[in-house]
Amino acid sequence: MNKHICTRWAFDLASWSPTLPQLAQAVASIQAEERTRLMKFHFIDDFLSSLIGRLLMRKYVSTCSGLPPHQVRFARDVRGKPYWVSGEGDRQRPPLSFNVSHQGDLVLLAGVCGDSSEGDFGVGADVMKIEYSGGKALSEFFRLMRNKFSPHEWSYIGRPQHNERAQIKAFMRHWCLKEAYVKELGVGITVDLQKISFSVDTTHSLAEEVSPLTGTTLRCQDQPMDNWHFEEHLLKEDYCAAIAFRNCLPQEQARFQLLPIEQLLVESDQSGSEDVVAYCQKALLKPHKKES
Ligand code: COA
Ligand code: MG
Repeated sequence: MNKHICTRWAFDLASWSPTLPQLAQAVASIQAEERTRLMKFHFIDDFLSSLIGRLLMRKYVSTCSGLPPHQVRFARDVRGKPYWVSGEGDRQRPPLSFNVSHQGDLVLLAGVCGDSSEGDFGVGADVMKIEYSGGKALSEFFRLMRNKFSPHEWSYIGRPQHNERAQIKAFMRHWCLKEAYVKELGVGITVDLQKISFSVDTTHSLAEEVSPLTGTTLRCQDQPMDNWHFEEHLLKEDYCAAIAFRNCLPQEQARFQLLPIEQLLVESDQSGSEDVVAYCQKALLKPHKKES
């Protein structure tokens, strides 16, 4: 399997209180249909998470293709998965795959870039905060989730040496891996999750110092999926993230790079426009989620 250049970018929303000019710059760089979609979020938190995801995608494609950010166009497939629409006239069209995930304070992008001699490959990513706030007892929650994981996965999650916190962490790690896999496929929740069975690296516990763990393997319908490769990351102490690589291997093991907002904003002659400023003023009036 060829080795590919892999990008892992993260943005921490806790590090940013958007000013009106910053927000206007960000909003000016995204497509009109995305502005309409973002405005439908009730909470500013969700608005900003999704907005940052769009900026990460644009920066990524612009960096890989050499196109100026404002020339990069995205569309979504029937299941909502965004992809880059590379035009005939684009100078360089490297095959690339990327996926964004956001939860809580974090927004992540994982991307893989190949060259035109290469076959089909793809990447999926997911991030989850390691917490349980479901209200009911954890055992009851696990009972409801029983058919989402294989017996093999449950045997790891419920290991005797796992206290409640460790069970939640093990659960979230598996959830993230499944989501990353499903997100590469782009199929949403239409697959039978119990038939997708992960074996996580049991020789290390997932900690920031050892991120990423790469020993994870996958079996689907009891068949080993040797063309898949996984990374598990721990970020900000209590977020786990997974990247699923199909038909590709990252050239190097690396942690997610935290980007400051300045690296995501691009100059735009639209950011001063009345429409954009009015849009941003309206967005800034949206309520914040309460701290859990
Ligand atoms: N496939 C891959 N990526 C997709 C996608 C799809 N079908 N649809 C959207 N995305 C991208 C977008 O960039 C999206 O960002 P946006 O919402 O700001 O546009 C981002 O992925 C969302 O990913 P994430 O933040 O991880 O959201 P999620 O985990 O809530 O949802 C879904 C992921 C929608 C793709 C899908 O997997 C789903 O429906 N999940 C439901 C949860 C579930 O039952 N999971 C079972 C796993 S155990
Ligand atoms: Mg997710």
